[in-house]
Amino acid sequence: MDERLDFLFLTEEEAVQAGAKDMPRCIEVMDEMFSLLGQGDYLMGTPNQNAHGIKIYFPKETPFPNMPVKGPDRRFMALVAYLGGRFHVCGEKWYGSNIANRERGLPRSILTTLLNDPDTGAPIAFLSANALSSTRTGAIPAVGARYFAKNNTKVLSEIGAGVIGRACVAALMVVLKQVEEIRIYDINQDAAQKYCQELSETYGVRAVAVESVEAAVRGADVINVATAGAVSPEIQDEWLKEGVLLTLPASAALSLNTMKSARIVVDNWKMYEAYAQELRGLPGGYAANLSGICGYLMDLVEGGEIPQQDIVNLGDVIAGKQEGRRDDQERVIFIMDGMPIEDLAWGYTVYENAKEMGLGTKLNLWEKTR
Ligand SMILES: NC(=O)c1ccc[n+]([C@@H]2O[C@H](COP(=O)([O-])OP(=O)(O)OC[C@H]3O[C@@H](n4cnc5c(N)ncnc54)[C@H](O)[C@@H]3O)[C@@H](O)[C@H]2O)c1
Repeated sequence: MDERLDFLFLTEEEAVQAGAKDMPRCIEVMDEMFSLLGQGDYLMGTPNQNAHGIKIYFPKETPFPNMPVKGPDRRFMALVAYLGGRFHVCGEKWYGSNIANRERGLPRSILTTLLNDPDTGAPIAFLSANALSSTRTGAIPAVGARYFAKNNTKVLSEIGAGVIGRACVAALMVVLKQVEEIRIYDINQDAAQKYCQELSETYGVRAVAVESVEAAVRGADVINVATAGAVSPEIQDEWLKEGVLLTLPASAALSLNTMKSARIVVDNWKMYEAYAQELRGLPGGYAANLSGICGYLMDLVEGGEIPQQDIVNLGDVIAGKQEGRRDDQERVIFIMDGMPIEDLAWGYTVYENAKEMGLGTKLNLWEKTR
C-alpha cells in the first residue's frame, strides 16, 4: 500500500493566479454554497453544528509582557466546517487580526485555509487565504443583492473602503447592472479620493468621495458598510430611502426603529443561536460580547423587540423556502458574520483550479507512517 501523503501548498500569489480574486465566479460559488446551506448539506462547529468558529479572547491587561491584549478588531479565530454537495470537503480558516498591523505595512488580518479529506482527515491543500477570504466576503453582499436589491438600483454607497469594502463594491458591481453613481465614505479621505478615480476608470460611472455618512446614505439604493475599528458608523433612520438595501459585513449603529421597520435577512440564523449558547447571560448582553451588529440583533430578538420568525435566512431564499424582495418599498437589512463554509467552497474551487493549472508546491506530510 502506498502510504505516502502529499498535499498542495499555495502561496498568496499562486492562489490569486488560480482565480482567488475572480469575483463573478465567486458570486456563483457562494450562491451554490448558500443553496447547500438552505438544504442542510453542511456542518459547522459545536454540538449545534452551526458555530461561526472559536476565538481567542484577549484580556484587557496581563502581567505577561508578550501576551496579546484586547484591542479593536484584535483576535485569533479558527473557523471549522464540512461542506457537502460537489465540494465534499472538511477544513478550517485560521486567522489573526490586529488593526496595528497597518502601521507595520501589513493587512489588518492574515489568513490561511486548510482543506482536508472528510473521510481520512488527510490535508489536501494549505492555502494563503487573504485574497480568498476578502473575495468570498465581498461576494456575500452581492449574493444578497441578487435577491433583495431593487431592480432599478442607481446609487451604490460604500462606507469603509478597506480590503473588504473594496471587495464588496467589486462584487456588487457584478450584480447591480444599472448603477450610475458610486459614493465612498472613509475616514481616510485621501484614500477614498484615489479609490474613486480607480472606480470611475474601471466602471465608467460617477464615483464620489463624500464627506459624511449622511452624504453616503441619503438617496442611496444599496449601502454596504465595511469599516474596521472601535467606532461603527451611525446611520439615522430618516436618511434611509424607501426600498433601500443595507448590507452589513461589518457593524453600523442603527436605531431600534430602523431595525424594527426593516426586513432583516441573515446569512444563517442558526449560527447566531450557536453564539447565544456560548454567550447567554454575560454582562452587557450579546452586543457587548460579539463584534458587529449581530450582537445587537440577538439582543433585540431575545428582548422580544424583533420576532425571531420574521428573520429571513438567505440560504432559505435561494433554496426556495422563503421569499426574496417582496416589493419596491420594503427596506432590507442583510446582516452577515461570515461562515467557514464560504471559505471551504471558495478554497476548494481555487484548489481545483490550481491543480488543473499545475500551480503550487506539493509538500510531503510523510513518506511512511511507520
Ligand atoms: N462578515 C464577514 O464575513 C467579514 C469578513 C472579514 C472582515 N469583516 C469585517 O469587515 C470590516 C473591514 O475589514 P477590512 O479588512 O476591510 O479592514 P481594513 O482595515 O482594511 O479597512 C477598514 C476601512 O474602514 C475605514 N474606517 C474605519 N472606521 C471608519 C468609520 N467610522 N467611518 C468610515 N470609514 C472608517 C478605514 O479607514 C479603512 O479604510 C471589519 O470590521 C471586519 O471585521 C467581515
